[in-house]
Amino acid sequence: MNIAMIGSGYVGLVSGACLADFGHTVVCIDNDERKVDALRAGKMPIFEPGLQHLVESNVRQRRLSFSVDLKEAVASSRAVFIAVGTPSRRGDGHADLTYVYQAAREIAASLAGFAVIVTKSTVPVGTGDEVERIIRETRPDADFAVVSNPEFLREGAAIADFKRPDRIVIGAEDKRAEAVMREIYRPLYLNQAPFLFTGRRTAELTKYAANAFLATKITFINEIADLCELTGANVQDVARGIGLDKRIGSKFLHAGPGYGGSCFPKDTQALIKTAQDHGAPIRIVEEVARINDQRKRAMARKVIAACGGTVRGKTIAILGLTFKPNTDDMRDSPAISIITALKDGGARINAFDPEGMEQARALLADLTYLSDPYSCCEKADALVIVTEWDAFRALDLDRVKAALAAPILIDLRNIYDPEEMARRGFAYSGVGLGTSQSKSAIA
Ligand SMILES: NC(=O)c1ccc[n+]([C@@H]2O[C@H](COP(=O)([O-])OP(=O)(O)OC[C@H]3O[C@@H](n4cnc5c(N)ncnc54)[C@H](O)[C@@H]3O)[C@@H](O)[C@H]2O)c1
Repeated sequence: MNIAMIGSGYVGLVSGACLADFGHTVVCIDNDERKVDALRAGKMPIFEPGLQHLVESNVRQRRLSFSVDLKEAVASSRAVFIAVGTPSRRGDGHADLTYVYQAAREIAASLAGFAVIVTKSTVPVGTGDEVERIIRETRPDADFAVVSNPEFLREGAAIADFKRPDRIVIGAEDKRAEAVMREIYRPLYLNQAPFLFTGRRTAELTKYAANAFLATKITFINEIADLCELTGANVQDVARGIGLDKRIGSKFLHAGPGYGGSCFPKDTQALIKTAQDHGAPIRIVEEVARINDQRKRAMARKVIAACGGTVRGKTIAILGLTFKPNTDDMRDSPAISIITALKDGGARINAFDPEGMEQARALLADLTYLSDPYSCCEKADALVIVTEWDAFRALDLDRVKAALAAPILIDLRNIYDPEEMARRGFAYSGVGLGTSQSKSAIA
């Protein structure tokens, strides 16, 4: 099937490359010429494990191409995916749908023959109706259907998530469109991935409900972590103790510096706004967003406390800047608030991240960026692990200790064992690790 993917960012590029790998012929469109030029030159505009290889192999087999010319791609496609950004709107936190509606207008102008317009961007409930209205208004003669197909992939594991999803949600009101969607995802159908066909509005809301629920789970364990610290309990054991209950599940129960990234913060805000507008406020999510905002600066206070109450004039080494490992995405990363608060407290910052430093430089100009973890620690008064990259899990701790001016380690991801760190002579603090020791062992 000929497919046009409008927007070639984290979602559009991965989805386009995976659909090409299923055997479809995909044109990934972007209005950022530099991005398209880079892709045509074989250079990935983002870091995502496995993406370079997947793109190269599908380009070689002529199933995947890149263009700024939306018209030609749309005119020859049976399915047109919208995968443009839906950031928070400045001022009120609603999803900014400017890019989605702009794409809808451009698509409308180019439609030729029956086409399914598939919204993959995360959009508030009812957006599909508006996309349909815009296209109908622009092209009253067009034969089309608008479908919602929210994307659940995680950056860092995006290809595996797209190819082996937990489920595929398709909100379609039109039988022909449903058949096109079945055809697009046929390889996954054969793998018995669960398909959920719903109404369009249901599919749109399902995406927000999923992200809000996950954000709530993270926030819940973070609050339990705070209580653990004050009561001598161990949050990792509590998480294991509740996570083994199948009704709860063990995922997203890692206490840490609060959620960030390109989705949870903006999607929780957008859901809050939508719910308020409909007179059905989701107060639990309102509270989650509030708690999470405060948590990041609270993490900076934790660092300051570990440094004896002040960081003025001190150098703090930060390992990990991206909002999670295996991505270069810095959008709404907790590191931004933590570093800003430490700088407000008078600290100088050394920083290292395996993939995120280019994006970080644009957001955090006056840090000292180093090329490896050990030079980052050199003469620093404390080390803070903010993102749990694998490369930080097996540091040469003697080398780290020798490099630091003081052996203070604040591990915001609990990747090290407190007892071992104490034995090695570090003043170690994790998250939610009360003073009584971990006793858990699963036989
Ligand atoms: N990043 C994720 O992990 C993730 C996961 C699931 C869902 N989503 C959702 O997917 C959507 C896209 O997210 P992303 O992270 O890929 O964003 P992104 O910013 O990385 O990519 C969006 C791309 O769309 C392009 N674009 C905007 N308007 C265009 C137009 N009219 N024509 C052509 N190109 C246009 C931009 O230049 C950009 O390259 C968002 O709604 C997001 O919430 C993201």
